[in-house]
Amino acid sequence: MEKINAVITGVGGYVPDYVLTNEEISRMVDTTDEWIMTRIGVKERRILNEEGLGSSYMARKAAKQLMQKTNSNPDDVDLVIVATTTPDYVFPSVASILCDKLGLKNAFAYDLSAACCGFLYAMETAANFIRSGRYKKIIIVGADKMSSITNYTDRATCPIFGDGAAAFMLEPTTEEFGILDTALRTDGKGLPFLHMKAGGSVCPPSYFTVDNHMHTVYQEGRTVFKYAVSNMSDISAAVAERNGLTKDNLDWVVPHQANMRIIDAVANRMGVPSEKVMVNIQKYGNSSAATLPLCIWDYEDKLKKGDNMIFTAFGGGFTWGAIYVKWGYDGKKQ
Ligand code: UT7
Repeated sequence: MEKINAVITGVGGYVPDYVLTNEEISRMVDTTDEWIMTRIGVKERRILNEEGLGSSYMARKAAKQLMQKTNSNPDDVDLVIVATTTPDYVFPSVASILCDKLGLKNAFAYDLSAACCGFLYAMETAANFIRSGRYKKIIIVGADKMSSITNYTDRATCPIFGDGAAAFMLEPTTEEFGILDTALRTDGKGLPFLHMKAGGSVCPPSYFTVDNHMHTVYQEGRTVFKYAVSNMSDISAAVAERNGLTKDNLDWVVPHQANMRIIDAVANRMGVPSEKVMVNIQKYGNSSAATLPLCIWDYEDKLKKGDNMIFTAFGGGFTWGAIYVKWGYDGKKQ
């Protein structure tokens, strides 16, 4: 049997209209634009501030644009995977809400939870469904309304996060394009350093948990920073090396947008100049599972068929990884 690869045939994205600037954040907590820009690199982030809207709203917008750009018939979609840490509800999944909103009658759908690394896990999971030969059209979405789990009285975390969603279509090809190699890792020892204390089954919501900001991101920033730099750098370098990718034939690094200093450290380790590194952290901040596809959404017009890319991310868990993609089409699909 001929080898089947999973190729990305389109990207769609959505960010909310509301722009939360550093100036506005510095009126909420004791911080400055200068501190946020030098320590994190975020200038502004988008916030979904209309009441009653959750991650599925942004996921739906991104997936609708994706279906239109790829001329997809809803009846042809086999599977939807949504990577998210901020689902609309504990259940049902964002993915099942999407199936309804997009009119997908022949698909099954589920959410995948791997924090900021969720989209990488979704890429590899979906690629394996495609490689099996049984699935022909898969939508993967990274969607997070991080503002719903951000403590806007905590200056150490609130400047970091923003809201957004973006989606890929994956389809089979027998050519050497698409998701060609993957390395993913999980280390549960990361739990104490990055988590949300309440709202799960260990500590269900109560007046106490609400009063004590236990439904928002808890992060020991310095520790997470160190693990993010070393793990993203090591795994990206390993995937590059085993695929013969060097600074000369690697066209793009697509890093998770958590901190500009982490992005620079990973690029330095790989010896890749800054013009080959996708960066949009300054305008969206860290939108968790949405950062990687939002980078592709922003850079789509610059991409060429055959471009070699390394996607890499690190998140709560800890979860991390790197994926080698050979891009499958030229320029921006309308
Ligand atoms: O996406 C999932 C993975 N997450 C990440 O990759 C995030 C990794 N961590 C980071 O990006 C950084 O650690 C942070 C951006 C969270 C924090 O930056 P940092 O340079 O590691 O700062 P720090 O926590 O070491 O704090 C340094 C100082 C502290 O003051 P003292 O104790 O030295 O007097 C903080 O209180 O900076 C202070 N500080 C602030 N000052 C002004 C912390 N936040 C702020 C702020 N404005 N917003």
